[in-house]
Amino acid sequence: MEHNYVESLVLSNKMNEKAIRKAIKDLELFDAANVLDVPCGIGNHISYMLDENPNINVTGIDFSKNHLAYAQELNQKHHPNINCTFQEGDINNLGLPDNSFDFIWCCDGLYPGDKEMGMLVEEPYDVLRDFVRIAKSGAKIAIGFFTSKRLLAGYPIVEATLADAEIFTKNANPELDILCTPAWFKKIGLTKIEVKSYAVDLYNLDKNMIEWLPTFCNLIWAQSQNKVSEEVWQQYTDIIDPKSANFIFDKDSYTGLFTYTIYIATVEK
Ligand SMILES: C[S@@+](CC[C@H](N)C(=O)[O-])C[C@H]1O[C@@H](n2cnc3c(N)ncnc32)[C@H](O)[C@@H]1O
Repeated sequence: MEHNYVESLVLSNKMNEKAIRKAIKDLELFDAANVLDVPCGIGNHISYMLDENPNINVTGIDFSKNHLAYAQELNQKHHPNINCTFQEGDINNLGLPDNSFDFIWCCDGLYPGDKEMGMLVEEPYDVLRDFVRIAKSGAKIAIGFFTSKRLLAGYPIVEATLADAEIFTKNANPELDILCTPAWFKKIGLTKIEVKSYAVDLYNLDKNMIEWLPTFCNLIWAQSQNKVSEEVWQQYTDIIDPKSANFIFDKDSYTGLFTYTIYIATVEK
């Protein structure tokens, strides 16, 4: 399970690399800034941050020892002379000192939902309040989410049906929809807010992308199998099967896209 989780993070990080690098560039990480990445996963975002500015001090925190070991090895390989700190920790109980960070980066970590379904938080407010506590005055808190996708070109009904069966938004409190992140900030007193979306266009795919896309789709939709009709599921599995004549991702004209949105609040103390 853990091993598969690492593989799924490797894949999703490859898919979203362009968008996340652009978002990190826009943060304008300055020299000597103290940066926290939580949950840091397998450490790719920290590596992009250090590519952007090697003169920052980064701390990566995650719950998984396995992910942290991967993150440490990756960053030693790509940034051998840079000292970044990796710590095991729980986003709900960070225990970090007050007023210590200039940037807090939290990507794909704050989806509110049932903890038994793997969500890190049931609601985001306590974690956000703790981010404010550990942030310096003027710091930026950046919360990133995978916000939209159109991946199944030619099959919008299949895609819409699968999307409808996704677990994150079903029956949830409307206030906890990730698109309401600015309202979460406002609820805890943060009023200086920016919203920026970053699109990844899928067109003229190289061999790697053609190979990764079916797995990426299954990361998103595998759990929808028993929530859609057999007919929809069969059509879906057929069009993402590289051996099928109906495989969509190797067609010349294939296009798709997905977006990441970064919600940024500036802390005023
Ligand atoms: C979807 S991944 C996102 C990782 C990284 N931010 C990225 O975008 O690649 C979620 C991460 O949260 C970690 N995690 C799960 N529960 C946690 C908790 N309570 N506190 C901190 N990290 C946690 C998992 O180990 C995993 O690495």
